[in-house]
Amino acid sequence: MKGLKVPKYLADYIRRILLKHSLINLNMKIKRLGDFVIVPVNKNLDSGMLEKIGIYNVEIIETDFEIQNKAPRSLKDYLKGLLEEGKIDEIKRSFDIIGDIVILEIPDDLEEEKNQIGEAALKFTRRKAVFRKKSKIKGIKRTRELEHIAGEEISETTHKEYGCRYMLDVRKVYFSPRLATERERISNQVRDGELIIDMFAGVGSFSIAIAKKHEVEIYAVDINEDAYNYLKQNIQLNKVQERIIPIFGDVFEFLEDKNMKADRIIMNLPGSAWKFLEIAIKSVKSGGIIHYYEFACDFEKAIEKLKNAAYPRKVKILNKRKVKSKSPGMWHIGVDALVF
Ligand SMILES: C[S@@+](CC[C@H](N)C(=O)[O-])C[C@H]1O[C@@H](n2cnc3c(N)ncnc32)[C@H](O)[C@@H]1O
Repeated sequence: MKGLKVPKYLADYIRRILLKHSLINLNMKIKRLGDFVIVPVNKNLDSGMLEKIGIYNVEIIETDFEIQNKAPRSLKDYLKGLLEEGKIDEIKRSFDIIGDIVILEIPDDLEEEKNQIGEAALKFTRRKAVFRKKSKIKGIKRTRELEHIAGEEISETTHKEYGCRYMLDVRKVYFSPRLATERERISNQVRDGELIIDMFAGVGSFSIAIAKKHEVEIYAVDINEDAYNYLKQNIQLNKVQERIIPIFGDVFEFLEDKNMKADRIIMNLPGSAWKFLEIAIKSVKSGGIIHYYEFACDFEKAIEKLKNAAYPRKVKILNKRKVKSKSPGMWHIGVDALVF
């Protein structure tokens, strides 16, 4: 096998140049030889190539090397040789782990490599199934199409987060592990005794995070029957039956004829929550708080919508933040508003 005989004091410098140009053979171990080290290199390396990358006066020799039996540790290690680094980073950024399931985005030009990528993700995460995103989140139920690419074909799982457990089917309901910090943030603001409306409750992630910590009464509403069924199961699973009332149906219809006055309203339906602002304002007591979410590139329009919907009542903005990125320049934003 080909090796580069380099003086010890230059070894690190030369190794880095070889790495930069992908000329090092990473499957073999570097070996020592007196005041020299022998760096395993790719078989096509010759002195002309060395000179081009600024390495002079080193000898290329034929020798044996020990196999490098380092276990792969990152997704990059698993995908080395299959994809370029930039593509691996792209895939890594799109990665979501929900319970035993991995969901990732694979660009169309990697269609042929999709199963190998899936297998790599399976080994790296040690989960049970890998799905590829096949559409954007869409429709009233806020779900997306998924393509199974590796592991068992299961789409139901239990996700653990801050001491709560959420059972769900990734094909049938909305759930984002990227909202974990937001749920924790909101649940830390709640006080015992509050009456809360979770207008778009999904499988109950905000409601359960709150009810696990506080003695509250939460009306958790969702229009997706699958989400509602998981919501009921999750209430049992997390033992918060005394604190959450699950409601199946359209939250507008539910609130319209009720004269409910809540201490806190959660509106996590960022694409169209604005359409429900007036009913939310009607249902919040003076001194109550609305957690309003929207897809936006800044906060101004969201705040304006809140103020307009509340008029003639007054609104004080307590906090505004970028919760997570949606697309370049576009954010899932959150605004906390105190309504008088
Ligand atoms: C973005 S998801 C949020 C779910 C949950 N709050 C979470 O953070 O995981 C929005 C949810 O609102 C529900 N939804 C949409 N329109 C609704 C309506 N008019 N009334 C009640 N629920 C609705 C969808 O079914 C979906 O589960």
